[in-house]
Amino acid sequence: MKKISFAEFGGPEVLRLVDAEEPHAGPGQVRIAVHAAGVNPVDWRIREGQVLGAHPVELPAGVGLDAAGVVDEIGEGVDGVQLGDAVFGEGLDTYSEFSVLTAWARMPEGLTFEEAAGYPSVVETGLRVLREVGVERGQTLLVSGASGGVGSAVLQIARDRGISVIGIAGAANQDYLRGLGAIATTYGEGWAERVRGLGQVDAALDLAGSGVLRELVALTGDPRKVVTIADLGASDFGVRFSGVAGSVPDALAEAADLISRGKLHIPVEKSYALPDAAAAHIDSQAGHTRGRRVILV
Ligand SMILES: NC(=O)c1ccc[n+]([C@@H]2O[C@H](COP(=O)([O-])OP(=O)(O)OC[C@H]3O[C@@H](n4cnc5c(N)ncnc54)[C@H](OP(=O)(O)O)[C@@H]3O)[C@@H](O)[C@H]2O)c1
Repeated sequence: MKKISFAEFGGPEVLRLVDAEEPHAGPGQVRIAVHAAGVNPVDWRIREGQVLGAHPVELPAGVGLDAAGVVDEIGEGVDGVQLGDAVFGEGLDTYSEFSVLTAWARMPEGLTFEEAAGYPSVVETGLRVLREVGVERGQTLLVSGASGGVGSAVLQIARDRGISVIGIAGAANQDYLRGLGAIATTYGEGWAERVRGLGQVDAALDLAGSGVLRELVALTGDPRKVVTIADLGASDFGVRFSGVAGSVPDALAEAADLISRGKLHIPVEKSYALPDAAAAHIDSQAGHTRGRRVILV
C-alpha cells in the first residue's frame, strides 16, 4: 500500500509517498480503508520533532491521527462494528491507504468521508477545554483563535450549551465567527480594549498561542478561568496548559450526536491528494486554517 512517511525530522520536504506493509488490527482495534485523513497542526509538530514527549516517534514514521473510511478488519475483542461500516476516528499513520484506528464511531448520516475526517481531534480537544475551563450556561466565554479547527468546534458546542462566546480571529473570519453564533472581534493592536468594550468575560480559552495569556487573565480576573492549548508559557501566568486527551470514544459519540442534530459543522477549507501531503502541511503551518484541511486517499 501507499502511505506518507518521513525518515528524518524537518520541514515539509521530508514527507515522502512510500510503499509500505499493510498494518493489521490488533486487539481492541479496527483497520479501515482510509478515504480521508484530517490534517492537524500536531501532525507537522510531530514531523518537526517538536512534541516527542507526548508523541514519541521511531523513524521512519508515518503521519496523521484522524481519519474516516470503511472498516475492513476487526481486531480481537471488538464488538458493535461490522466489516463495511463507514467510521471516523483516531488512529495511527492515517495519511495512508489503510490505517488502524484505536477509537472510532459510525459516521452520521449525510456526512461525507472528507468532512468526517476533520472532526475527531478537534471535537475531543474542544470538549476537553470547555470542561477544564468550567464555563456554564448563561456565562460568556472569550475564545482566542476562534476560527481554526478547535475554535470552530468550541464555538458550536458552546452555543448548543447556552454559553455566549466572544471570538477573536483575523479580519477575514469575522463573518465566519458570527455565522457560528459568536460576537466577533479581531486580534492585533487594541484587541483587549475591544473585548472589554463587548462586556464581561467569565472564562477564556487561548487556542492560538499568540502570547495573550496576561491579557486573558486580566479580562477574566482569575488565572483559573483561563486554559491554553498552545502556549507553553502557561505556568508563568498561573494558567492551565491542557495537553492530555480525554476520552476519544465519548468525544466521537458527542460529535455524532451534535452533527445529527445539525448543531455542529466543521467546514473543510481545502482537500489535498495523498501525494500532496507536504502542501497540506505548508498551508496548515501558515496558521490561518478555517475549519479543517483534509487529505483524500
Ligand atoms: N494541547 C492540545 O491538546 C492541542 C490540541 C489540538 C490543537 N492544539 C494546538 O492548538 C492550536 C490550534 O489548533 P487548531 O487545530 O485549531 O489550529 P488551526 O486550525 O490551524 O487554526 C489556527 C487558528 O489560529 C488563528 N490565529 C492565527 N493568529 C492568531 C492570533 N494572533 N490571534 C488569534 N488567533 C490567531 C487563525 O485565525 P485567522 O485565520 O482568523 O487568522 C486560525 O484560524 C495549534 O497550535 C495546535 O497545535 C493543541
